[in-house]
Amino acid sequence: MALIQDFGADCARAINAINASSSSEVSNASHATIFSELLEGDLPANEKSVPRLIQEAHIITAAGTETTAWCLSVIMFHLLDKPHLLQKLRRELEEAIPDISVEAPWLTLEKLPYLSACIQEGLRLSYGTPTCMDAYSIHHNESIYPSSYEFKPERWLDNPRLDKYLVSFTKGTRQCAGINLAYAELYIALANVLRRYGGPGSPGPDGNFELYETDEGDVKMVSDNFIPFVKGDTKGVRVLVKKSPV
Ligand code: HEM
Repeated sequence: MALIQDFGADCARAINAINASSSSEVSNASHATIFSELLEGDLPANEKSVPRLIQEAHIITAAGTETTAWCLSVIMFHLLDKPHLLQKLRRELEEAIPDISVEAPWLTLEKLPYLSACIQEGLRLSYGTPTCMDAYSIHHNESIYPSSYEFKPERWLDNPRLDKYLVSFTKGTRQCAGINLAYAELYIALANVLRRYGGPGSPGPDGNFELYETDEGDVKMVSDNFIPFVKGDTKGVRVLVKKSPV
């Protein structure tokens, strides 16, 4: 609770700082921010009050952090649990990013077929936030996704139209507002981490991950409590990081 209150106070400070800056400072900033856009826009004054904007900050932070982090955990678990898939992905990344000191842009990464397939499969098995369209039932409909409980990135390569049935972000007017940011984060994080670090049978230049006291039960949804919940006594997806010999 104290953490939430501290976070609210931090948000209030940041919003007051934006409020205190002149409108030319806000519009001349190097890039727009969500709050500069809200404050500069034509919303009625009561929609721009600090308490209202703090709530907005809470929603965006909650919607944009745990979701993407959970999807990354699910993907990492499955790749480390199934070394042949990790090897395939790391081969694609080594070819696409020959020099690890040069950061590959998202535009390059999103064209990589196997990385994309791993991300789609991770989104499918992390379900998103099942508040309206029921992602769980669709993502486990066996006529759409045979062996639906298995992490099989290949299904996305075999059927390029499958994304029609991926509803992690829901669809339509209430679709996730952060979908493009989420995809950018997933591609950039996975590609950069797995280009540098490997796993069983696929050593990376900076070190290797090994699952630590983690199994499928730590990523398998057992209940829908507004967001997907795994078993109560899970300690999360944990890995040992073993450095490569210098
Ligand atoms: C893997 C990552 C993510 C998943 C699976 C996801 C999923 C979802 C889903 C299913 C909804 C619709 C909820 C409803 O039915 O009303 C939603 C809404 C929303 N998401 Fe995401 N999200 C992700 C990442 C993000 C990120 C990175 C941001 C931005 C920082 C974000 C911001 C939002 C916001 C603001 C809404 C409310 C949109 C509205 O009601 O107009 N999300 N998200």
